[in-house]
Amino acid sequence: AGPCDLYSAGGTPCIAAHSTTRALYSAFSGSLYQVKRGSDNTTTNIAPVSAGGVANAAAQDTFCASTTCLITIIYDQSGKSNHLTQAPPGGFNGPETNHYDNLASATGAPVTLNGNKAYGVFISPGTGYRNNKVSGSATGDAAEGMYAIFDGTHYNGGCCFDYGNAEVNSLDTGNGHMEALYFGDNSAWGSGSGSGPWVMADLENGLFSGQGSKQNTADPTVTYRFLTAVLKGGANKWALKGGNAASGSLSTYYSGARPTASGYNPMSKEGAIILGIGGDNSVSAQGTFYEGVMTSGYPSDDVENSVQANIVAAKYATTSLNSGTAFTNGQSISLRATTSGYDTRYLAHTGATVNTQVVTSSSATALKQQASWTVRTGLGNSACWSFESKDTAGSYLRHNNFVLQLVANDGSKQFKEDATFCSVAGLGGSGQSIRAWGYPTRYIRHYENVGYIASNGGVHAFDAASSFNADATWAVSTSFA
Ligand code: AHR
Ligand code: AHR
Ligand code: AHR
Repeated sequence: AGPCDLYSAGGTPCIAAHSTTRALYSAFSGSLYQVKRGSDNTTTNIAPVSAGGVANAAAQDTFCASTTCLITIIYDQSGKSNHLTQAPPGGFNGPETNHYDNLASATGAPVTLNGNKAYGVFISPGTGYRNNKVSGSATGDAAEGMYAIFDGTHYNGGCCFDYGNAEVNSLDTGNGHMEALYFGDNSAWGSGSGSGPWVMADLENGLFSGQGSKQNTADPTVTYRFLTAVLKGGANKWALKGGNAASGSLSTYYSGARPTASGYNPMSKEGAIILGIGGDNSVSAQGTFYEGVMTSGYPSDDVENSVQANIVAAKYATTSLNSGTAFTNGQSISLRATTSGYDTRYLAHTGATVNTQVVTSSSATALKQQASWTVRTGLGNSACWSFESKDTAGSYLRHNNFVLQLVANDGSKQFKEDATFCSVAGLGGSGQSIRAWGYPTRYIRHYENVGYIASNGGVHAFDAASSFNADATWAVSTSFA
């Protein structure tokens, strides 16, 4: 059985079932998600390899070979057509055309399930999915349940990495108008014990970790690589749970009455579904989503326990984040541009500015050093890499507002994540492409001889689709200096 078969048997059927990794009903063999590729802007649907099975990642890899791919639709497996698509603007604008949110890379969150490769949904700040016309979801004070599997090591304090029930107009319409899972270390509203991240309930104008609006220490800091998060709510009751999605059982963090703060009892749920954003399209958060469902009715603890057992049996595990050639810690490299007309230029720096410069074996030592980088284990994720300047020890390539800079490591989580890059098979057909770990849609690219992390056809001039693959492909060699 799949998770939604278990919820059905318990009398609390799924009204939405979203996953890019696997079927959530044993009989489901339809499309899990749609991807769009950059080479010709065409789309394809990815289905499980067999009914009830894991997503056909090989079909995606074939379709997306030598180009970029975005997740355009996360289909609803429940039969109610409650699909998730690119979120529209609301109280806050997204960064994409017409103020929509960004779409996620199709390759930012590779994993295996029982040894079979699949891809999750890596949400960078600016990214979000939504459905404001859901059929069958809980409204008002009606009961519902939900769970999601997140990456407990990918989070931030921005508002709000959510999955669940939200406003149908993408605006903050008041307390009690949402009921969604939140994961991250935002403590502006509520918090749990330790320094976070926490699973909390976004009930609108508040992230709740228990009955009180502020800190509830029974809600623990949780950082399981694969994290099961569970939320349910009904008439003057709700519960919050979590656990390791790779082993063991769920723990109850809160189960009891509704918050006493005004507006949350009774609830005024509206029934839209969001992923990666707040109810008002607050779009500053990051996190990774693998699967999640919403139910009708208040699921029993027994059903939730059997769903957790099903999740554990799916055997989520990590796999390489790199589809290109591995770098080696300590290796000294130079990166030559491959774009025709620019292929004597190397990725270099002039002070804090990252650019490309013409370098040859007879260049001055100073210039050779400016074009030389020492590969380090990724500061923000040890499965990827950071690039330390040869002539300015302790300074690394980082992005800031998508512009590459050479900056001293200040030790912050933000710096480390901004200075972490993963390798991708060269988009140009040979060589290497190098994607930003925290923004997997964005690759190290030169544009007008300046360094950026660019997306293929995004809103900035440096995101131009023209010449993208060549500009984002580098020939790796032993360093000049
Ligand atoms: O409740 C926290 C956030 O507050 C909601 O997600 C958002 O709509 C509002 O800004
Ligand atoms: O480069 C994109 C983002 O811009 C970085 O992650 C952040 O540090 C800055 O705001
Ligand atoms: O960086 C040099 C060139 O500038 C790039 O190849 C092109 O995309 C831009 O015009």
